[in-house]
Amino acid sequence: MSFKEGDLVVFQDHRERSYRKVLKENGRLQTHMGFIDHRELLGKESGSAVLTSKGKEFYVFYPTLVDYTMNMPRMSGIIYPKDAAYMMMWGDVYPGATVVTGGVGSGALILALTRQVGPTGRVVGYDVRQDMLDHAVQNVSELFGEVPPQLTLKIGDLYREIEEHGLDTIMLDVPEPWKVVRPAAEAIKPGGVFVAYNPTIRQVEILTQELRSSTAYGLVETVEILVRSWHVRDRSVRPNHRMIGHTGFVTVARRISRTRPTPQDQETERLTPEDIVTADIE
Ligand SMILES: C[S@@+](CC[C@H](N)C(=O)[O-])C[C@H]1O[C@@H](n2cnc3c(N)ncnc32)[C@H](O)[C@@H]1O
Repeated sequence: MSFKEGDLVVFQDHRERSYRKVLKENGRLQTHMGFIDHRELLGKESGSAVLTSKGKEFYVFYPTLVDYTMNMPRMSGIIYPKDAAYMMMWGDVYPGATVVTGGVGSGALILALTRQVGPTGRVVGYDVRQDMLDHAVQNVSELFGEVPPQLTLKIGDLYREIEEHGLDTIMLDVPEPWKVVRPAAEAIKPGGVFVAYNPTIRQVEILTQELRSSTAYGLVETVEILVRSWHVRDRSVRPNHRMIGHTGFVTVARRISRTRPTPQDQETERLTPEDIVTADIE
């Protein structure tokens, strides 16, 4: 498929800085490395290299989900792809799954969920702010060309009520996720997964306490995803000097029917020296 007017593309320079644009007959990408007229691209294939007016090489692609997420307009903080990828796997979000999520914010997580559940699944996104929902609709429509039928966005307060039931997964990015622990217990199916993203460890502490004191959850875990990229050039092979030091923590719990709440120390792993040796070898 070759580029035509109206296509959403990403221009990327050799340093992997990227720019999202919709191709227009008279459009122009202007950068400090020179400009590229959109018409030079019409008829070319995704992945083509083009030169700016100053002779610098840029690559032009249809955006991947990561390209789009990192370049889309934002009205809120977003969940970065590294965290969203983990949340998809540990949340067991499969094609056909039913997922409730919120707050919708700029829609970064919504994009990943919508694509992952596919046309046979269902994603319902809640937000307390209509302007956030409107903004997310713009981003979703720009990437997918429309709001896909598997996605419903609605105004609603997740701390008060979740209207859907029998969910495979609930995935949260709200300031006080512990307030969703009770409503989510009614909404998630037995054995389903509760996932929450929190920027601060104080939030994680309160959430974990709430999950462990409920008889409806078990197997509560929190992780932090650190990604370190490497500089690999000739004889200089080392970690890059810069990295994203912090985004957030991901807490995962399973919907379990317990006979009693988890005592605070019960889920804490108590390893003996023998366990540690075995764990290291495995
Ligand atoms: C950080 S943003 C979410 C960003 C989003 N995860 C993304 O990847 O683009 C947090 C959102 O939660 C919404 N919010 C706050 N409290 C809420 C509640 N009780 N129920 C639903 N949404 C809520 C806010 O309006 C805001 O849009």
